[in-house]
Amino acid sequence: PANQLTDRFGRTVNYVRLSVTDRCDFRCVYCMAEEMVFLPRSQILSLEEIARVARNFVDLGTEKIRLTGGEPLVRKGVLDLVREIGSYGLRDFAMTTNGSQLPEMADELRRGGLHRLNISLDSLDADKFHRITRTGKLSQVLDGIEAAREAGFRGIKLNTVVMKGRNDVEVPELIEFARKKQLDITFIEEMPLGEISEHDRGLALCTSAEVRDIIRQRHELIPATEDSGGPARYYRMPDSPVRVGFISPHSHNFCDTCNRVRVTVEGRLLLCLGNEHSMDLREVLREFPGDDEKLRQAIISAMDLKPERHHFSSEGEVQILRFMNMTGG
Ligand code: GTP
Ligand code: 5AD
Ligand code: SF4
Repeated sequence: PANQLTDRFGRTVNYVRLSVTDRCDFRCVYCMAEEMVFLPRSQILSLEEIARVARNFVDLGTEKIRLTGGEPLVRKGVLDLVREIGSYGLRDFAMTTNGSQLPEMADELRRGGLHRLNISLDSLDADKFHRITRTGKLSQVLDGIEAAREAGFRGIKLNTVVMKGRNDVEVPELIEFARKKQLDITFIEEMPLGEISEHDRGLALCTSAEVRDIIRQRHELIPATEDSGGPARYYRMPDSPVRVGFISPHSHNFCDTCNRVRVTVEGRLLLCLGNEHSMDLREVLREFPGDDEKLRQAIISAMDLKPERHHFSSEGEVQILRFMNMTGG
């Protein structure tokens, strides 16, 4: 159709990840430094501006929106935004969250029209969980996962960033947890985004191949044939409906089928997670408050800036200075 976004490499962009805040109640070692300076109010998009961006992407053929952060659920009024975007009739409307606010919010999110949740869970041991997230409380997240299960989402997925010496020994427990709760789980290789001095990424990197070897000591992993349409490669176990995914930005190049762009809470349209190519939509939003055509033209022209692929160094060397909380993964 005429209203589809495509880039110079013939890829269709129909998936937008909107970061609704750079703030978070956790300080995960791979995502943030211990001391973070967050953006001042004037620099971040209002909820109305975020909805306007979303609406215009939908007019340009977007079928899937994911809200991210920071932690999206710490943004005041986020439920109103969910209800607004939930009314756009998207094929898929999802959120990535750390789960801490889900005990109170899961039900309203579901009723607001959100279809799916990805919940980060790096450990089932309260001390280890605290050491990874620095400020997070495991029991709260486990309660959040239960609340989400009860709320009746179309899908709930767990996300685990695996790090040597921090949580690699917990892979078997996490698999058993996912099987018991009947939740899909994805293991993620850490990406070097943002300079974080207290954490050595080169030493911590645990490859997806290593994680698969750990799991295979107990369970057969059968490659799933269906295309995930995303960076994850999925496997199944013979005796469970649970899918086990692997996101391997270091070893598996999924860029050739990339269908996504991101918008930071400052209104920067980012064309690739692993590159700096971007366009400032905030300027357009504020200079032309009533002119959606201008906004759509800016979005269309930005597609030419989408780079072919990302390159991450396995030594954990940082090429992208932007922290993950600015991008939401
Ligand atoms: P789907 O929307 O179902 O594809 O979920 P997802 O797994 O992409 O989303 P989520 O927010 O749960 O992200 C999980 C991990 O995948 C995070 O560590 C992201 O940074 C990573 N990720 C998501 N998209 C990309 C991408 O385009 N490139 C790279 N390198 N990593 C990505
Ligand atoms: N590398 C890989 N994944 C990361 N996440 C946050 N920072 C990183 C990183 N440096 C993950 C979180 C969450 C998702 C949004 O991104 O664990 O699941
Ligand atoms: Fe917060 Fe998610 Fe970053 Fe952890 S990874 S600090 S939960 S935004």
